[in-house]
Amino acid sequence: MTLTQTKKPQSLQKTLGIGLTLAVTLLWIFALSGAVYVSKNKLNELFDSSLAETAQRIMPLAVVEIINREDPGQAQQIMSFKAHDEHLVYLVRNNLGQILLQSHNADPAIFNQTLLIGFNSSTTHRFYGISAVQNTLHIEIAEPLTQRRAAITEMAISLLWPLILLIPLCFIGSWVFVRYSLRHILAYRNEIESRGGGDLTTVKVEGLPTEIIPIAESVNSLLDRLQRALESERSFTANSAHELRTPIATALAQIQRLQQKVSAGSIQDDMGKIETTLRGLSSLSEKLMQLAKAEGGGLLSAEPHNLISLLQLIVDDSQRSHPAKIITLTLPNNREYMSAIDPDAFAILIRNLLDNAIKHGVYAQPVEISFSSKGILNIVNAASVIPTETLLQLRRRFVRSNISVQGMGLGLAIADAIVSGVGATMTFNSPATGQKDGFEVSVDFSTIKD
Ligand SMILES: Nc1ncnc2c1ncn2[C@@H]1O[C@H](COP(=O)(O)OP(=O)(O)O)[C@@H](O)[C@H]1O
Ligand SMILES: [Mg+2]
Repeated sequence: MTLTQTKKPQSLQKTLGIGLTLAVTLLWIFALSGAVYVSKNKLNELFDSSLAETAQRIMPLAVVEIINREDPGQAQQIMSFKAHDEHLVYLVRNNLGQILLQSHNADPAIFNQTLLIGFNSSTTHRFYGISAVQNTLHIEIAEPLTQRRAAITEMAISLLWPLILLIPLCFIGSWVFVRYSLRHILAYRNEIESRGGGDLTTVKVEGLPTEIIPIAESVNSLLDRLQRALESERSFTANSAHELRTPIATALAQIQRLQQKVSAGSIQDDMGKIETTLRGLSSLSEKLMQLAKAEGGGLLSAEPHNLISLLQLIVDDSQRSHPAKIITLTLPNNREYMSAIDPDAFAILIRNLLDNAIKHGVYAQPVEISFSSKGILNIVNAASVIPTETLLQLRRRFVRSNISVQGMGLGLAIADAIVSGVGATMTFNSPATGQKDGFEVSVDFSTIKD
């Protein structure tokens, strides 16, 4: 089944971080606009009332001033005590619109040309007009709008400033908080990840959020079913291989007895072939038992063993069965490397690798075995180069690349099951390191945990 993935997976932490920050920012801006709107109205009211107040204060003074003049129709400019910038300017006009009095830097052009009563505004100024002395005098006072605008802008900016701090704080805060809330999920993931293929026991669900517990429980029940399926497969393999042993051994013994009874000839040849087939069957059942053991767990022993003395025993044994073959063994000086791998599992592993080196290597050339003080085993033999794609497949069951000799294609599968079951690593090289051809297998035992 192929899954068509249309969307890239998103990090929950990132989505929540960005989402919450955006929401807070928008809310802040919304609240800010409301505050600015309300204060603007209030401010305008205040400014307006002081504008009107000023006009009403100036009016009586202006009236007295104008009436006391020798020529009341003559325009006059109020001299300031000292040149200064005025925020408020005013004009006093008669009912014909003639200017009778003006503040020292009032520009008549900015004022309304008609005589208006009350508040009104132009694009640049806010005005307030009143009339007195039976509508014969009219005062209009003007205030530039820039002041009101500056006050509002200043306030908006002072409210915007905290956003600069709020955005990163909110993002970091939600990031840290989400990470904190997800810590049990991360621990759960790590626990699943750290497991080797052999460990299918249930994973702890404590501390997980309620949304995740159903998933974790499904994973556990899946692990359980997988464990049972694998166990039944293994025990079936082991049992059938075990049950096959006796009949195969009996058949072999019978054929050997029969061979002695017939004289040399075609019948003897045929019997020889049957014997070879039976031996093949016998070694297949042996390998199947090894594979079942290798995949079944229990590959680590309670106390550590010295791998070097075990290795020496196995190599000596193999040399005795192949007296003509040159096998060299290079060991570190202190002759000791302790490891928790089960001695039986170690023996099965080494035998399979060594048998391969003898069987698949050029017979006239030596097999070189070395074990380093760092726990790295190397077995090198002469052979023609195996292409990399084939090399990658070799550890699968029933995969063989040299079919000129007898075999089942299970040796490296057994070795791989043992190596990954104990937490070691195995690599193949062809050509062997530093050579033009040959085959090299390295197993690193240093990663096995006690
Ligand atoms: N030491 C070796 N030298 C050369 N080729 C090897 C060596 N070990 C394994 N191979 C290759 O890997 C294949 C798979 O090995 P294995 O799983 O042990 O199966 P078998 O030995 O039954 O063929 C072999 O058929 C052979 O081609
Ligand atoms: Mg083999």
